[in-house]
Amino acid sequence: MIDRALWDSVVMAMVSLAWLLPAIAAATPFPIDLQPISVEHLEDSQQYPSFQGLVFNNDSERLGLDYQRMIRIQHMLYIAARDHIYVVNLTTAVHKIIPQQILTWRSSNLEMCAIRARNSDECYNYIKVLVRRDNETLFVCGTNALKPVCRNYRLSSLEQVGQERWGQGLCPFQSGHSSVGLFAGGHFYSATVADFQGSDALIYRSLGTDELPLLRTVRHDPKWLREPEFVHAVEYGQYVYVFFSETAVEHTGAGRVVYSRVARVCKNDEGGSRRLLHGQWTSFVKARLDCSVPGDTFFYLDVLQSLTSVLQINQRPAVLGVFTTQNNSIPGSAVCGFYLDDIDQVFKGKFKEQKKSDAVWTTVPEEHVPKPRPGSCAPEGSAYFHHPDFVLSFIEKHPLMDETVSSINSQPLITSRYKLTQIVVDTAAGPHQNSSVVFLGSEDGRVLKILISLRENSSRLLEDISVFNHTQCPGERRVLGLELDQERHALFVAFSSCIIRVPLSRCARHSSCRSSSLDPEHLRRDDADPQRTSDDADPESTTELTNIAKCVTESYINY
Ligand SMILES: *[C@@H]1O[C@H](CO)[C@@H](O)[C@H](O)[C@H]1NC(C)=O
Ligand SMILES: *[C@@H]1O[C@H](CO)[C@@H](O)[C@H](O)[C@H]1NC(C)=O
Ligand SMILES: *[C@@H]1O[C@H](CO)[C@@H](O)[C@H](O)[C@H]1NC(C)=O
Ligand SMILES: *[C@@H]1O[C@H](CO)[C@@H](O)[C@H](O)[C@H]1NC(C)=O
Ligand SMILES: *[C@@H]1O[C@H](CO)[C@@H](O)[C@H](O)[C@H]1NC(C)=O
Ligand SMILES: *[C@@H]1O[C@H](CO)[C@@H](O)[C@H](O)[C@H]1NC(C)=O
Ligand SMILES: *[C@@H]1O[C@H](CO)[C@@H](O)[C@H](O)[C@H]1NC(C)=O
Repeated sequence: MIDRALWDSVVMAMVSLAWLLPAIAAATPFPIDLQPISVEHLEDSQQYPSFQGLVFNNDSERLGLDYQRMIRIQHMLYIAARDHIYVVNLTTAVHKIIPQQILTWRSSNLEMCAIRARNSDECYNYIKVLVRRDNETLFVCGTNALKPVCRNYRLSSLEQVGQERWGQGLCPFQSGHSSVGLFAGGHFYSATVADFQGSDALIYRSLGTDELPLLRTVRHDPKWLREPEFVHAVEYGQYVYVFFSETAVEHTGAGRVVYSRVARVCKNDEGGSRRLLHGQWTSFVKARLDCSVPGDTFFYLDVLQSLTSVLQINQRPAVLGVFTTQNNSIPGSAVCGFYLDDIDQVFKGKFKEQKKSDAVWTTVPEEHVPKPRPGSCAPEGSAYFHHPDFVLSFIEKHPLMDETVSSINSQPLITSRYKLTQIVVDTAAGPHQNSSVVFLGSEDGRVLKILISLRENSSRLLEDISVFNHTQCPGERRVLGLELDQERHALFVAFSSCIIRVPLSRCARHSSCRSSSLDPEHLRRDDADPQRTSDDADPESTTELTNIAKCVTESYINY
């Protein structure tokens, strides 16, 4: 009978977990947050290994690590910071993060900088670009005291290869300016600003060895780019896609409103003619990404913060992004997914235009769209794709599509009242390597671990982990980077002043978490204690049940 009572409570606990699942309510303006199944407090997380840069160095003591970005290449983690690149061997970083190699690269432009810089902290070398160029070379650019330069380094030894080059258009001048970059077909695609003030934003193709010219977006044209914050770039098929947020040019109401965008260019774009769009893209198109909560009134999350690489969702290539509300509005975040073919479909659709400045934006009638259609790539193998002037003129005036790109299932996968800043996804989680787990970093130093099911439109918040510890990381609490190391079951969480290595699951912590099966019979046999009387069962069984709930969930995501 005791068994029976306990089992009933287990069932109750499972039922009560079930109400957490469909957390995305339709009618409310902003849905309730998912409730975490497990919460990890700071006391529990202080033991995680951390890395603060060179603590014996005078600058580091005052300014901290000043994390900029990190990438994992096979079993090595490359961390770009102020004046340094640290290389961590992931096989030896399990209990302590000690770089296997440190590359120090200081500014060479100090005299000039002292005159120009408003803030002398800008005179360091902030490593803003760190990308793999090919399978032997790392391409690295630093702000170099407001005079950006780029170098190539051998991946294996960090020896410099060849000469340093001027980094204008490839790397920003200041640490606070956004920048993304990737190599595709031997060319470097950068999205950043090309001047000291940060007003000349551009998406730029450079460094090729073939016939293709250097190309950029039209300079100082707000229809093309307006105060963009670049977030990510991906190569897919014949295109390069750039994801960013920017001040919405089509929003003609009061105030400044930011929208999220995806822009696309053809890798084989040959640029315009001598008269029109010379040295500029002829295939550039962009569209708004719609991450909104449907209901009586749509609730928009318009500011893209972070985006995954291309992954497969329901056997279709897709990306997942974290979006937040406008800066000056109540905090709120959502994760939305976008299929790449849905993006391409919007680029095959109608264009938007503004006939006169201050006029509202309208849809371009289909008969006004020239052929070949702007945004389409020259067929492979075709000699040259010369656009006549009227086509180039249309392209110059119409970079923006009329329709927005809808998110997968037209709703967010996850919403939160917190400000989320970063996302990574493990698409091969769980006992069968077929579950998807999303890790989200927040502005207040936490990591949320969420099991998502795209087929069922449901998500479970498995863990809410407090990672930030001010003693270990003096400085900001905001999560600036996340990098997964699936093989060793770890997540690297970057803050401005430190990197912390967090295990992907904490199952061993829970004493009753030993079952690896979801079979209720199994749980019942293992976890029901026949010695327990119904009198003392209450408070104890509550904790036990919590543990069983954790166990059920964690064994489902059994790393
Ligand atoms: C933060 O980390 C330090 C050093 O590891 C530790 O002594 C301290 O207790 C931690 N703080 C909290 C609030 O856990
Ligand atoms: C660090 O600062 C101290 C005091 O300002 C100075 O004496 C010392 O030379 C500095 N060390 C380095 C390596 O710059
Ligand atoms: C990383 O460390 C392991 C263990 O010490 C070592 O076997 C391996 O060669 C190292 N990898 C590199 C690329 O240095
Ligand atoms: C290195 O790159 C070349 C092409 O650039 C590719 O064919 C080759 O498979 C790569 N090698 C490895 C080990 O990834
Ligand atoms: C939003 O806030 C961030 C951080 O506080 C700031 O860097 C950014 O410029 C703000 N953006 C807008 C559009 O006000
Ligand atoms: C994962 O694979 C297992 C075994 O093949 C299957 O039973 C389960 O339904 C799959 N789950 C998902 C989410 O595809
Ligand atoms: C998920 O949402 C989409 C769009 O709202 C809907 O078409 C689909 O039927 C939903 N799936 C489930 C299992 O509820």
